[in-house]
Amino acid sequence: MINIPKGTKDVLPQDSYKWQYVESVAREVATLFNLKEIRTPTFEHTELFNRGVGETTDVVTKEMYTFKDKGDRSITLKPEGTAGVGRSYIENGLGNGALPAKMYYLIPAFRYERPQAGRLREFHQFGVEVYGASSAQTDAETILIADTLLKKLGLQIKLYINSIGCPTCRAAYNQALKDYFHPHLGALCGDCRTRFEKNPLRLLDCKEEGCKAVNKDAPKILDYLCEDCAAHFEEVKSCLALAGVDYEIDPRIVRGLDYYTRTVFEFVSTSIGAQGTVCGGGRYDGLIEQLGGKPTPAVGFAAGIERLLMVMEQSGVVIPEPIKPTVYLAGMDGDCRKKAFELATILRNHGVIAEVDLMERSLKAQFKYADKLGAKYVAVIGGNELEEGRANVKSMETGESVPVAFGEIVEYFLN
Ligand code: HAM
Repeated sequence: MINIPKGTKDVLPQDSYKWQYVESVAREVATLFNLKEIRTPTFEHTELFNRGVGETTDVVTKEMYTFKDKGDRSITLKPEGTAGVGRSYIENGLGNGALPAKMYYLIPAFRYERPQAGRLREFHQFGVEVYGASSAQTDAETILIADTLLKKLGLQIKLYINSIGCPTCRAAYNQALKDYFHPHLGALCGDCRTRFEKNPLRLLDCKEEGCKAVNKDAPKILDYLCEDCAAHFEEVKSCLALAGVDYEIDPRIVRGLDYYTRTVFEFVSTSIGAQGTVCGGGRYDGLIEQLGGKPTPAVGFAAGIERLLMVMEQSGVVIPEPIKPTVYLAGMDGDCRKKAFELATILRNHGVIAEVDLMERSLKAQFKYADKLGAKYVAVIGGNELEEGRANVKSMETGESVPVAFGEIVEYFLN
């Protein structure tokens, strides 16, 4: 037997309605905020993620599914959605259209991580990207989209926000980080010693215990924000308050991807263990230029579908079950089965959910199966019924049976 690859999951027929529910609520919220769906390829040129996500991030250095295709090009399965959307925005000249460009996507993403509860190698995201608007209201509206989604899914999840400034204030902060970390270099992991040289902000994102201990007392970015970034952050907070969104400031959020500037945020649940971040995002005003486009302000987030479903289950959220068949048509034998098949087709053509036996089972076994399916009615066609041109329709709820002429069966179930 061939097993499923480590870190991946099947969504089975009995569970897929839960996914469809989350996806439909996500689309409903997207519509409410006038976002349009964008679909980009599952794989891109590796260079896109090296440049976009950042060469010192764990995602790029350790987690990408990268391979050479038969044309000897380096290809990567997308580890996240933002870089691909940015590429598409530039390539398709979306910046020449109506701005802001407000987009969403539902995608699979791939990261070679150590699998554990809530951490997979193939996972799924609902993501939002808004291009062209630099106002703090845009940051607040983007956070509000995530907040609305979580609330519509019946979840109460804590929001943490921070600002990591712009290149101007980041330069002073990077220097402060270097001054702080220099005497502790010996206690840091090998990766962090590289990060110290290349991108000191990444030091704050290390998962190693020894590094986390040193990070505890590192200088806080909020103390280094330039005047514009500080004013922007104040405005974001005031818009969130205006929208009635509760938040807490966490100066330790730096995010795991390099493109962020100014506002960053995470919705973190305490109910699903270590991988509690169900949604993360922020502003990334430098990415489009970094990828070769015109300077373009941008802000977005992504929520992990698997994690959302985990929190929903933990919180006892009841997801509406799929609609059950209205009628199961049970034919006793040969010609009766054919009649059942014909009537099922006519009923379906009129929009009635109808099921029919495909297993050539006995009437008793068909009843058992109809019960398992949760069919509301079973329409029995035996020899007598066939002769008299009617089905014997039994309500599975009340047990009552009524004869219904074949010619009136559609009308019967449509009423
Ligand atoms: P991210 O924080 O890397 O951000 O991922 C967003 C969400 O995807 C996480 O909060 C989590 O729910 C889910 N997720 C990430 N990795 C895994 C995994 N291995 N297994 C299961 N779920 C996972 C981004 O991806 C950014 N592109 C978000 C963004 C959009 N920022 C601006 N625009």
